[in-house]
Amino acid sequence: MAALQVEKLNRTFGALPVTRDVDLTLERGARCALIGPNGAGKTTLVNLITGVLKPHSGRVLLNGEDITASSQADRARRGLARTFQINQLFRGLTVLENLCMTVGERDGHCNNLWRSSGSKREVIDEAIGYLDSLRLTDDALKLVRELPYGRQRLVEIAIALAQKPRVLLLDEPAAGVPSSESHLILDVVAALDPDIAVLIIEHDMDVVFRFAKEITVLVQGAVFTQGTPAEIMSNEQVRAVYLGQEGHRGGHHG
Ligand SMILES: Nc1ncnc2c1ncn2[C@@H]1O[C@H](COP(=O)(O)OP(=O)(O)OP(=O)(O)O)[C@@H](O)[C@H]1O
Ligand SMILES: [Mg+2]
Repeated sequence: MAALQVEKLNRTFGALPVTRDVDLTLERGARCALIGPNGAGKTTLVNLITGVLKPHSGRVLLNGEDITASSQADRARRGLARTFQINQLFRGLTVLENLCMTVGERDGHCNNLWRSSGSKREVIDEAIGYLDSLRLTDDALKLVRELPYGRQRLVEIAIALAQKPRVLLLDEPAAGVPSSESHLILDVVAALDPDIAVLIIEHDMDVVFRFAKEITVLVQGAVFTQGTPAEIMSNEQVRAVYLGQEGHRGGHHG
């Protein structure tokens, strides 16, 4: 059974179709990249999968269960986690506080303030474990807003992992991060639990081809083609449509 299955998903914004009959399957442990020009609808697709947006038609299945009508929180509880293109951390809280909130929320004792769960020893220990694994321990007691942007993106990944996801959607995890720090994020992504199905949106073709075992190319909201990195790299139409775009970021292809 697929970890994530998207079937014939459609969404418009006003008259503009942004998601058109999209089919996408992530098997358990998948390493999939979603690429396409700016405005192709990549973030919109992630928003539809995670329940930020409702599709106008089509279905989303998580481990075979139809979650199309489920809330974002319910999808998260069922094992779907994501990071955002622009981070969504609580900037006025410490790194550790952000992590403890996630762990507490996951385990369902967060109807009260985070403090009541954050004060539980095992929650703190587990949160510190995620920070250790991302080499963020020294930053645990700093406010998120005091950290350089690259480290904030790492905190975001730590939070996604603290949800213990089965499916992880990474929307440009290294966006805005200086190249001196982006390797940290890419190392973390490369070392993710092999059981987690991962979909990464990324403009840097070097990263895409190193990480992905399968690539989906989205153009104007529709799946243009899907294939292995070798198939995508040798596809002349992909080169023309995607790599030929003006204003396209990244693009260290070759
Ligand atoms: N809330 C919204 N209301 C109206 N139009 C939107 C909304 N969100 C996105 N769009 C439009 O939908 C299209 C797809 O946007 P989306 O952000 O999904 O693209 P993307 O592939 O993630 O692009 P990028 O590579 O720049 O991140 C764009 O034309 C965008 O302007
Ligand atoms: Mg986007």
